[in-house]
Amino acid sequence: MVELVERGRVTPSKALDLCCGAGTNPVYMAKKGFDVTAFDISDKAVEYAKEQAQRADVDVKLLVADFLKLPFKSDGFDFAFDFGCFHHVDEKDRNPFIEGVYRVLKPQGTYLLVCFSHKNGPAWNHFTREQIAELFGNYFEIKWIRHVSSLEGDQITRYFYEVLMINSER
Ligand SMILES: C[S@@+](CC[C@H](N)C(=O)[O-])C[C@H]1O[C@@H](n2cnc3c(N)ncnc32)[C@H](O)[C@@H]1O
Repeated sequence: MVELVERGRVTPSKALDLCCGAGTNPVYMAKKGFDVTAFDISDKAVEYAKEQAQRADVDVKLLVADFLKLPFKSDGFDFAFDFGCFHHVDEKDRNPFIEGVYRVLKPQGTYLLVCFSHKNGPAWNHFTREQIAELFGNYFEIKWIRHVSSLEGDQITRYFYEVLMINSER
């Protein structure tokens, strides 16, 4: 996301950060001039994210919400950022989740997804490129899918897919 913002591929606009956790990403976006709304199911995480936003002296609309009941009007956002949210969604809820993101994004809005890759080994929420294309392809035009890795705090390298998608015309 940082690379896309720094390169001007994603420009300041109305953004939604899905499952914001401690608020690092929405605070970054707000600093870059985005009008950011962010939510998480954890009230503790949202409280912490509010403190982070206050400390950084930026305005972020932060709320406690469930990713299956997005409390936002349709066509409200230009950009949705999902860093580690979708891979927490139960298999049975994947389509409703995707429909929710599609609904709240404007037509032609951008969805940047980062989710676990199958390269971490087999698991219910480790995805292949083909699975991602099949799950999201009915709603979004997939611009690119790329494999990335990250050395995490526990010294384990984890693999992710980064997927840039555009809301298809309704
Ligand atoms: C891997 S963390 C990602 C945090 C953040 N995006 C980041 O980059 O630091 C996953 C987050 O999903 C949140 N979460 C799990 N289930 C959720 C749900 N049903 N609705 C909203 N958030 C949920 C958790 O509370 C947690 O903060």
